[in-house]
Parts: sequence; structure tokens; C-alpha cells
Amino acid sequence: MLHHIRRDQLYIWPARTYRDLVFETEIPLTRQPVFFISDPDALKIILTRNERFPKSDTQNRLLRKGLGDGLLTAEGETWRGQRRAIQPAFKIALLRNLVPAMAAAIDATAEKLDRLSEGAEFDLHHEMMLLTLDVLRRAMFERVAVDNEKMGWAVSEYLATFGQVDLGDYFALPDWLPRTKHFRVRAASAYFDKAVASILDERRADPAPPNDLLQLMMEARDEATGERLTDVEIRDNLITFFLAGHETTAIGLSWAFYLLALHPYIERRLVDEVRAGIGDRPIGADDLDAIAYARQVFEEAMRLYPPVPMFNRVAAGDENVGVLKIPKGAHIFISPYVLHRHRRLWDRPNDFDPDRFSPEAAAARHRFQYLPFNAGPRACVGLNFALMEGAMAIAALARRFRFALAPGFTPEMEARVTLRPKGGMRMVIQRR
Ligand code: HEM
Repeated sequence: MLHHIRRDQLYIWPARTYRDLVFETEIPLTRQPVFFISDPDALKIILTRNERFPKSDTQNRLLRKGLGDGLLTAEGETWRGQRRAIQPAFKIALLRNLVPAMAAAIDATAEKLDRLSEGAEFDLHHEMMLLTLDVLRRAMFERVAVDNEKMGWAVSEYLATFGQVDLGDYFALPDWLPRTKHFRVRAASAYFDKAVASILDERRADPAPPNDLLQLMMEARDEATGERLTDVEIRDNLITFFLAGHETTAIGLSWAFYLLALHPYIERRLVDEVRAGIGDRPIGADDLDAIAYARQVFEEAMRLYPPVPMFNRVAAGDENVGVLKIPKGAHIFISPYVLHRHRRLWDRPNDFDPDRFSPEAAAARHRFQYLPFNAGPRACVGLNFALMEGAMAIAALARRFRFALAPGFTPEMEARVTLRPKGGMRMVIQRR
């Protein structure tokens, strides 16, 4: 079973979880109770009462070695204070300032793809990984002297080690594993710490700082206590944003372009709407409404292929969730993948239909039925950042290129911490 979990985390979700809203079982050997839950009402209770249902400590401990006490891994008061301080930096009004940085990164990708010859085969997922890293780097540090290559290396080392923690590690957890990973990342971590320290010094000396994420973090204050983030907290959160926001967004984009390649009539509508709304000019902060359909495409792609296919919680005590009695220590498995394809919750669950995300249709749905970003107090803090970036990338690339699946290629899902296209996304490029 561990062997299978390592290769495919969705493997442990029995077929009946796509039909039943709750399924209770126990972990073999340890006999700990496990609840597979796709009932939106129960999920709302569990995910809203985050003190009663914290993240699994084992998994967190492992990630914390790389990410410190950034938002993703912190719990209790440390998490709450940081969340209060950081959340305002991700308000839509402030994120709009990042649109030019996002657009510049997307344009650079488009220029690069334009250098491929017509009909050339390439790995779209690889390009999306480079794009989303570039977006984060530009959004975080505008105008500070960053050695891009070294920073890229340090971040990649982090991602290659702490980005790989999976449920297999979490159950098996031999003690050597974290230490090996820790050792590998030590040089990258030392470089990152030094770079961040000098970036902070440089920024503090800047008389007219730009509105990038770094600046927002430096100015962030917990409104309840008035406290600012410490330098260590800023550092931990910068690396957390790279880890949490890089591969996830790239995966969402890769599956979105895959689905567009399979649905030419949806692709046609997308391109027509983008051209009618903004033509060929660069996308600006005022154009986000004009690319609303691109955002719907992105959201629907993440319904069918949620970049984080499952996450889990532990019951802190004996808990009642509606009629469910969840004993202390029970594991709660939540899978956006299963939830989003659940037969009792969705009409034609396996069909790609971006109209499900029209404002009316989305408003009529249970909030906890669609969880690519989780929901409640621990929802993804980068949600609006990712939606903006995803819609812009889809609109800007689709109006210029058509990506068709490479002949003979069918992508396969690799469900680990994230839902990667195994071996990449082989596409053929055509200009429009
Ligand atoms: C399509 C892209 C993304 C997806 C699907 C995604 C998904 C998620 C999910 C499912 C969680 C909750 C995990 C859990 O509760 O166990 C989460 C948390 C988080 N994400 Fe994202 N994310 C994305 C992009 C981003 C971006 C761009 C950033 C930052 C710039 C980011 C930063 C974070 C942080 C800091 C947390 C922890 C929040 C907290 O616990 O308070 N994410 N994300």
C-alpha cells in the first residue's frame, strides 16, 4: 500500500468515495480511524474550525525544516498573527499593482515560444514551470539586485527537496529521510538566507520603494497586536510563496491548455472573447474583467485537475461534525479531486464546461464543493494572485498560439503532493 501511495496518492481513495459523501475506515496496522469526506456541509465545519482540526503535525514537522514557520507550516498563535499581517497584502486592490510584472513575465514566455518553428514539439509543462517561477520572482522583488541564476538554483533546490514531501513520507517517515533532505538543501538555504538579508538591507535604504510583495511584507502589520513581521518571518514566507505558488499554478495552466486542446469550440470562444475585449495589446490591470472567460477556463481546469489533489487534517479531540462522531486522533482525508468529480455533487462531473464558473452558477453552488485552494481560515492566501496570473497567461498565450497535443501523446496524472502531468505535457505549437 505504501508503495502505491508513494506513486499515486489518489490510489487510496476507494471507488465508493466518488458516490458516498463520507467513508470511514482505518489505517491498516496502526488501526487509526480515517474519514474520507466529500460532504460540503461537513467540510465547512472541519475546515472552518481549524483549531479543532489542525494540519497533521508529522507532515508539518518535515516541511518546517525547509520552510521554517511560514504561513503554510505555522500553527496556533504564530500562524494567526502572520495570517492577519500578510492577508491584506494579497487584497485584489494591491495585487492589481503586480499586473505589469505578471504581464512582462508572460510576454517573455510568449516571445520565447515564438522562436520555436511552426509545428515544433515542446514540453508545455516545463515552460509553465519557468513562467510561474519568473512571475513570482518579479512580483516579489521588483528592482532589487537579485542574482537570478543563483536565486533560481536556491529555490529549485528547495522545491526539489521540500516540494517532494508526500503522504508516503508522512506514514512511513523513516527518520533518515528528513535529515537527507535537510542536508541537500543546506547550501541553498544558506544562500537564500544571505540573499534575503542583503535584499532587506537594500530595500530599507530605498527612498522610493516599489509596490512589490517584499515591500508589502515589510510594511505588513498584525492589526490586532500592531506587530510587524520579523526578518526571519519575512524570509520564511518568501520561500513559502515560492514553494506554494510555483508548481501549483504551473500545473493548473498545463491542464488548462490540455483541456483547451481537446475542446476546440471552447478554445474558439475563449480566443474570440479575448480578442473582442482587449485585441492584441498588453493586458493591464483594467482588463481583468475583459478576460473573465479565461479565468473560468482556469477554474474549470482546476476542478477536473486540482493542482493539490488532496490534503488532510487530524481531529484534536472527540468531535461532532453534524451527525458524524470523529474520535480524537482520527485522520481526515479531503480530496479536491474526488470532491470535484463527485457524482452526487456535479452534473456530468467529467465534462469540461467553463460555464460552471459563470458568476451566477458559481454563486449558486455550495462554497465547500469546490476546493482547489481549500476554503475557510486556512484557504490559500495566494488564491487571487493565482487566479489573476492564470487568467492572464491563458488569455495572452491562447490569443497568439494554438497548442495541439503532440501526435500519439496522452498525458498521465501523477498524484503526489501535486497533480503533475507525468513526464510533462507534450504539445505542438501553431501560430494563430
Ligand atoms: C493554482 C495555484 C495554487 C493552488 C491550487 C494552491 C492551493 C493551495 C491549497 C490547497 C492550500 C491549503 C493547503 C492546506 O490547507 O493543507 C494553499 C495554502 C497556501 N498557499 Fe496556495 N495555491 C496556489 C497558489 C499560491 C500562490 C501563487 C501563493 C503565493 C504567492 C500561495 C501561497 C499559499 C500559502 C502561503 C498557503 C498557506 C496559507 C495558510 O495556511 O494560512 N499559493 N494553497
